[in-house]
Amino acid sequence: MPEKELVNLTVDGQTVQAPKGTYILEAAKTVGIQIPHYCYHPGLSVVGSCRMCLVEIEKLPKLQPSCATPVAEGMVVRTKTPETLRNRKFVLEFLLSNHPLDCPVCDQAGECELQNYYMEHGLYDSRFDENKTKRKKAFPIGPYVILDQERCILCTRCVRFTREISKTSELGVFKRGHHSEIDVVPGFELNNPYSGNVVDVCPVGALTDRDFRFKCRVWFLGRTPSICPGCSRGCNIEIHFNEHFNPRYHEQRVHRLKPRYNKEVNGHWICDEGRYSYHSIDAPNRLKAPALKKDGSFRQSTWESVIQEAAKALKQALLAHGPEGVAVLASPQMTNEELFCARRLFVDELKIKNVEFSVPFNGTVYSDDFLITADKNPNAKGAALILPSGIGIENLLNLCAEGRIHVLYIIQHDLTRGYDLKKIEAALDKVDCVIFQGSWDQATAALAGIQLPAAVYAEKAGTFTNVQGRVQKFQAAIPPVGESLPDLEIFSKLAAELDVHPDSTAAADVFRSIGENMEAYAGMTFQTLGEGGQLLNQGK
Ligand code: FES
Repeated sequence: MPEKELVNLTVDGQTVQAPKGTYILEAAKTVGIQIPHYCYHPGLSVVGSCRMCLVEIEKLPKLQPSCATPVAEGMVVRTKTPETLRNRKFVLEFLLSNHPLDCPVCDQAGECELQNYYMEHGLYDSRFDENKTKRKKAFPIGPYVILDQERCILCTRCVRFTREISKTSELGVFKRGHHSEIDVVPGFELNNPYSGNVVDVCPVGALTDRDFRFKCRVWFLGRTPSICPGCSRGCNIEIHFNEHFNPRYHEQRVHRLKPRYNKEVNGHWICDEGRYSYHSIDAPNRLKAPALKKDGSFRQSTWESVIQEAAKALKQALLAHGPEGVAVLASPQMTNEELFCARRLFVDELKIKNVEFSVPFNGTVYSDDFLITADKNPNAKGAALILPSGIGIENLLNLCAEGRIHVLYIIQHDLTRGYDLKKIEAALDKVDCVIFQGSWDQATAALAGIQLPAAVYAEKAGTFTNVQGRVQKFQAAIPPVGESLPDLEIFSKLAAELDVHPDSTAAADVFRSIGENMEAYAGMTFQTLGEGGQLLNQGK
């Protein structure tokens, strides 16, 4: 694509170069100048209706909307003149004239642009003696969103989102003049796969998240960049967790997920399925402690004992039956680093050939032509590249059912999602020792003899390779629940017990080894991945 012509201008005395067609507001951002705005959102069409972003442009008699005025050669823009500051104060006074004084009880407090800009640019004494207009207060407009019409400033970002992004058009502006209000189209509700994004685009507290409301004040939240593991798209997200002491939460836990901008993957958006998937992190069935099955029921144990038991079972099976007597079922839920360590340990060192990672899913899945993919695994591409070609899950289950597999090491999978429970029970029953390494207690975990509780994505660092072949990293936001451990630590303990040189437990170190050993990832490190990720080397 031909490069766009660059235009030179100055903003508040700073020289700025921006591609032709860029709006002043965006050009100013590139040199750290933030121009206050309400109706403008970089992911939506421009309407220029709120007038908050007006700036002075030399040689033009009136203030101009910076969100709707493209840069021009030699333009001289001033964003902090007495006239622009006076305008912002008046816009705020106008917007707040009918805005209720809900701040102490509003869930948006701390991230409300009315509050923030009032403190920066308002600070006037109210001249409003009339009664404020009464509108409908907090009411659900869909499964995830609550609307408070009194708080709305009619920026129409939410309306444009449903028209331009989700393309579902459930929201609109109804009535005229100062009776105008946002509402759902009669007979409809805001129920589309991306509905939670309207909460993110709302600059005030008019649209709030039913899931998050009143759970935690936003100033208690820490933020860690991460990757959604809900499907192979790998949307960029931020994990928000309680960072500071909060009497309701004694541990650091996740409170919400927010989209993180990545032009190449998800833009500004995420789907509702991914947004609310964080509940699984603290689901009641999380495996929290290592356990061994005795007389048909699990007994909590220590890491030392379970690793010794697992290593003993593996050693005995390898000695008695050779590598053919052992099978490993890895998972496309695993990170590139975990897959690499699993390969080094089980394939390169223990010479096990009965390896597979792909298990069919028997239910129905939703996918679309926007973000949501049908593959609900975040790293199928990485697994296919890093592990040797699999023996096929049907073959593996047949070998188990024939009694030819003596130790089966399952990582993350619940086989009953793809097969009848009876078939799985019959196959696993013939295996002397089933080791389950995973995060949740589910039907397959219950059939194992040894349970190794593993951390989930929010509790560890790593990389996933998404459906486009983009390698993206994520960091731990919170500590692992209970006694669970990141998979890299589990592999390291097991390797040490098996007298195999253990790999590093630091994801960045293991990823560097991947970059040194695998052509598709050649030259990549956590540093080169940056915030936006990096495409696999061509042809891979
Ligand atoms: Fe420019 Fe609203 S942000 S007019």
